[in-house]
Amino acid sequence: MTDHILIERPQSAPGVQVIRLDRAEKKNAITRAMYQAMTDALKAGDADESVRATLFLGSEACFSAGNDLNDFMAFAMGGTMGREVIDFLHALASHGKPLVSGVDGLAIGIGTTIHLHCDLTYASDRTQFRTPFVDLALVPEAASSLLAPRLMGHQRAFALLAAGEAFSAAAARDAGLVYAVVEPAVVEAEARAAAARLAAKPPKALSIARRLIRGDRADIAARIDEEAGHFAAQLKSPEARAAFEAFMARGRG
Ligand code: COA
Repeated sequence: MTDHILIERPQSAPGVQVIRLDRAEKKNAITRAMYQAMTDALKAGDADESVRATLFLGSEACFSAGNDLNDFMAFAMGGTMGREVIDFLHALASHGKPLVSGVDGLAIGIGTTIHLHCDLTYASDRTQFRTPFVDLALVPEAASSLLAPRLMGHQRAFALLAAGEAFSAAAARDAGLVYAVVEPAVVEAEARAAAARLAAKPPKALSIARRLIRGDRADIAARIDEEAGHFAAQLKSPEARAAFEAFMARGRG
């Protein structure tokens, strides 16, 4: 159970299920409980015919700072990883309803790669996408190592996922990660409206169209597992531990 994921079925947008990250005091860093809550919501949406579109939102000026680094540290120190992250990634990749996201501000790690699974992403013009996996001695996740080069070509995928370069909203739109860049004040409304428009369409036709456009997904599930193996091994590495310790210790000296 967590209060940091809010699930909403707004009356103003029938058929839309909103999954909102709501841990602004920690920059919406995602804990195991939050992954679990999002997985439960995705699965509930899949099982419920009245849900016709799923919308991810974050907080003002912060979509997410990525995985909670304290959870990474706990695992690096010998704790268990749990199934929460991997279950979420599979639920995300296999979700049967159109996925829309609205992003404002920080979008780090999974806060960036989640949008590779979305069908329409709206970003505010102050959004920065960044995946510092390698700087943390980690590797890409969420099948981003497969989806990003397909979407944006090798060099931009490499810059984003391996070199850890930040992408502005405009660069992300040029790379195909974002559908539209809008003012911060309207990003949520635009994303909500897009989800509502999708939810109002004939669901079967939309579902078939989406499946055809997205293509075969078997390789994506396999890549999620392949990446997760490397990710878990790297989490235990001395270089990753040093990176997490540096984050924990920042500002103390
Ligand atoms: N995991 C856990 N806690 C996090 C976090 C994360 N990924 N990102 C931010 N937080 C926490 C901070 O520890 C801080 O908590 P505190 O107030 O108890 O000290 C709080 O959120 C605010 O963060 P802070 O660093 O003070 O804000 P900032 O505006 O100076 O910097 C970031 C924001 C996102 C740039 C910075 O927090 C950061 O680099 N976070 C790590 C991002 C990351 O590497 N994610 C993993 C990707 S795989």
